[in-house]
Amino acid sequence: MTIQDRRALVTGGAQGIGRAIALRLARDGASIVIWDIDEDALEAVKSDVEGEGRACHVARVDITDSAAVETNVKEVLDRLGPIDILVNNAGIVRDSLMVRMKDADWDAVLAVNLKGAFLCSRAVARSMMKRRSGVILNIASVVGVIGNAGQVNYAASKAGLIGLTKSIARELASRGVRVNAIAPGFIDTAMTSGLTKEVRENLLRGIPLGRLGMAEDVANVAAFLVSDDASYVTGQVFHVDGGMVM
Ligand code: NAI
Repeated sequence: MTIQDRRALVTGGAQGIGRAIALRLARDGASIVIWDIDEDALEAVKSDVEGEGRACHVARVDITDSAAVETNVKEVLDRLGPIDILVNNAGIVRDSLMVRMKDADWDAVLAVNLKGAFLCSRAVARSMMKRRSGVILNIASVVGVIGNAGQVNYAASKAGLIGLTKSIARELASRGVRVNAIAPGFIDTAMTSGLTKEVRENLLRGIPLGRLGMAEDVANVAAFLVSDDASYVTGQVFHVDGGMVM
């Protein structure tokens, strides 16, 4: 993969899918910047990425905080240099049926999963446009495509993220910036560790490949999409879901 010596910023990269993407991009030759709100996990992932022989800069950044996002992008650009790749991965769930859903649960999920991706994309895109080069990758979800009972906030945020992906792809294509999304199915991370055995078994029945995905399954596709091997690909949503949605 052709990302040698590029710099990738991964949000929510302290654990799970974001961590796997950071490690994979480091292995492919990129230097890494990780933003997260979990400071202990940030220190651990920093040493893991450095173990791959690449530089890793970590910062506690809440991506819902517009001023913090702007300040930290500026700091990276001034101190480290250009950001070639942005992976909008940070995401949360606050599940409940719609009739019981609290306003705060709606607002929190939309703030992180959708507004956070918008704030980071806007902050990074200016410098990418000037350099006429860059890649943005958004981690959406299959539930943003097919919906899910009990996740109206999450599904709406991920459907919104897909709309954001396609719109930014159209705005930035002429400036040499590509924008794509991955829609993972059910991936074995902290986010899905709370599922009961019964729910897991039900889910597995709907997955033709017969297993939950691993964070590395998503990272493998991410590595392709941010590389020059995908240089003619923009505005697309790639399902990494074991065939769950087809
Ligand atoms: P995770 O819960 O293991 O990791 C999410 C990370 O985001 C955590 O390190 C967390 O501290 C960070 N984060 C949360 N709020 C933040 C904020 N305001 N600012 C900065 N960082 C913040 O989740 P996982 O499973 O690794 O998911 C990563 C992405 O993949 C999310 O966008 C999720 O919606 C998406 N996804 C996950 C699936 C799964 O089955 N695990 C399926 C489909 C999509």
